[in-house]
Amino acid sequence: TDLTIKLNNGELMPAIGLGTWRANESGLLAQTIKTAIGLGYRHIDCAKLYGNQEEIGKALKEVDVPRKDLFIVSKFEENRHRPELVAGALDEILNELQLEYLDLLLMHWPYAIKPEANAMSFASSDIENVPIMDTWRAMEDLVSTGKVRSIGVSNFNQTILEKMIPQCRIVPAVNQVEIHPYLQAKELVKFCKKNGIAVTGYCPLGGRRVNVMNDNFIKHVAEAHIGTPAQVALSWALARGIAVIPKSTNEIRLKQNLHQVTLTSDEMRMIGKIERHERKVDPASDNEELEWVFHEDKMECPVI
Ligand code: A2P
Repeated sequence: TDLTIKLNNGELMPAIGLGTWRANESGLLAQTIKTAIGLGYRHIDCAKLYGNQEEIGKALKEVDVPRKDLFIVSKFEENRHRPELVAGALDEILNELQLEYLDLLLMHWPYAIKPEANAMSFASSDIENVPIMDTWRAMEDLVSTGKVRSIGVSNFNQTILEKMIPQCRIVPAVNQVEIHPYLQAKELVKFCKKNGIAVTGYCPLGGRRVNVMNDNFIKHVAEAHIGTPAQVALSWALARGIAVIPKSTNEIRLKQNLHQVTLTSDEMRMIGKIERHERKVDPASDNEELEWVFHEDKMECPVI
């Protein structure tokens, strides 16, 4: 649980965080946060979009760990990309979480929608052209307010980052993207590392459709280490220097996810070969205009 990743501004990010997406059943999430922190979790990954930050805020008020020992991440929604809305978006998040500051604020997606549009379900006509750099500069301005220690991005592909980095006053500290053994993001991870951007992998266990935990090779490695497939998937990402944010509401699995198995270099190499390019989360499945987000070969990013 002491594993940390050093960000490009010197801040330390605990390498294992608690995911909170779809942990919405009332009461269960607050209990999960308290249990997780009791077990040693210090990094909590939140987002405005998940609609559950008030419950997380209440739970954080009741835990016995000093604020400075926690690493709280949140993300603002695509309907707050207009530069004049970004500071207010952070204030909304801080209010919901009842916090004075965030450790890390992320731009949740590299595209904008209209302020009145619903980020959970929007139409193509809601998408608007706010240049990513305009939103990013507004985020850069937040750092000196003390309301956020580090700023970063989420769901950014290499093409966008390549265009963005030379224009940044502050290079993103983190890029949070989907990563698991069936979607390994090898090129992107290499690029981020080379440019000092830490990577956090979301959905590190895959999911129902992308069933990494049922993979025969992962199961075989798990047996060899007297561990579980989940531990193999998480240990594989951590060994690559990637932070992970598995979600669980179950105490046994929360505890299990904090403990790695030590994979051999052969096992790392073999897991490298089970790549399937199977993505769980893709905005293009609802709006094909957004195909450029993850299929950069097919369409150029229109707004940078
Ligand atoms: P549970 O909460 O019952 O443990 P996400 O992809 O959003 O991070 O969700 C992770 C999913 O994997 C959740 O459904 C969670 O269910 C499950 N899960 C988390 N940890 C483990 C584990 N160690 N073994 C098996 N399933 C897990």
